[in-house]
Amino acid sequence: MNVVVPYPELVSTVAGVFADRGVPRDRADTAARALVHGDLTGVTSHGLVNLTRLYLPLLESGRADPAADMEVLTDLGACVLADAHRTLGLWSASQAMDLAVSRAERYGVGVVSLRGATHIGCAGFHAARAADRGVIGLVTSNCGGQTIARPPGGLAKVLGTNPLALACPAGDRHPFVLDMSTTVVPTGRIRAAARADEPIPVGWLAAADGTPVTDPADYDRGEGHLLWLGSTPETGAYKGFGLGLLVEVLSALVSGAALGPVSAGDTDDDIGVMALAVAPARLRPGFADDAGALFSALLGCPPADPRRPVVYPGWPEGERAAWRRAHGVPLPVDLYEELRSSTLRATG
Ligand SMILES: NC(=O)c1ccc[n+]([C@@H]2O[C@H](COP(=O)([O-])OP(=O)(O)OC[C@H]3O[C@@H](n4cnc5c(N)ncnc54)[C@H](O)[C@@H]3O)[C@@H](O)[C@H]2O)c1
Repeated sequence: MNVVVPYPELVSTVAGVFADRGVPRDRADTAARALVHGDLTGVTSHGLVNLTRLYLPLLESGRADPAADMEVLTDLGACVLADAHRTLGLWSASQAMDLAVSRAERYGVGVVSLRGATHIGCAGFHAARAADRGVIGLVTSNCGGQTIARPPGGLAKVLGTNPLALACPAGDRHPFVLDMSTTVVPTGRIRAAARADEPIPVGWLAAADGTPVTDPADYDRGEGHLLWLGSTPETGAYKGFGLGLLVEVLSALVSGAALGPVSAGDTDDDIGVMALAVAPARLRPGFADDAGALFSALLGCPPADPRRPVVYPGWPEGERAAWRRAHGVPLPVDLYEELRSSTLRATG
């Protein structure tokens, strides 16, 4: 059963939970929007479910510092390196994107490279801030020293689920937002299936000998290993693994954050993030019109099934978010109760 909560009320409640734990109010608001984005858009693996499982423990254990600020270490104008100093990644990735966009508006391109970051949630939330300002935004994040997935053909875990998101304006339509883990799914999708006691599709997990695993509980038992996008070498796993490495390079090798395969610990501390903004309108007129034409043409592709029109990444989430902003965000009752008890714990 679900409880439907008005979007503004949900954001202000979550912002209050963060603010009560020492996060400055404006940052708490951004962090709350970043977290609620998951439930607003239907990406529930990275929504409120992570409040009590991930973000509050990060703050309560001191692994995230609510009051710290980002420190710019190198500023070349178009390119900035900063230390996030363990601020909430839900806020600092947006801060990095906003700075990258400002630099792109001046130079045509802006790159902000962060180290010392904490978990950023949905990468697409931060990337979409660029599209809102008429600019293309890319956000990549590694998982710090945490290792989750093995290379194809390897026995040791080397990298995290390493998400990437690219957002591009699409005229008066929902922006294109490709937002994805580079493993076939993030671990949250597997744990959600385990909580619901539902089998998972073939291609997400495999046993040590490569046999497909469909019991999601095998993941936390160490008997099912998470696969890269593409699943097996025959079906393209090297492309997913390569994308995971691409994210590691852009996010952590550039910034000097923890690198999965060489870090001493196995925690998602010292995460690296890259926020890249490109402002084509600074290079040529007509970008906005061309973007509108591109995405409109995609929506016009004849569908194989007339009941299922062709859409592009970001469209389903944009539709869902528009509806839920107007009519409220559905939350499973137990998640709603978790949120209420987080509010009570902070004030009680
Ligand atoms: N912070 C982290 O460490 C971390 C790690 C992994 C994943 N994540 C986040 O987890 C979230 C979920 O990732 P995921 O890999 O499960 O994403 P997903 O598989 O749900 O979606 C991937 C992409 O496919 C598009 N898509 C899905 N269905 C579509 C359809 N019918 N038509 C058109 N496009 C469609 C979506 O718009 C999205 O851009 C993302 O927000 C990601 O940033 C974060």
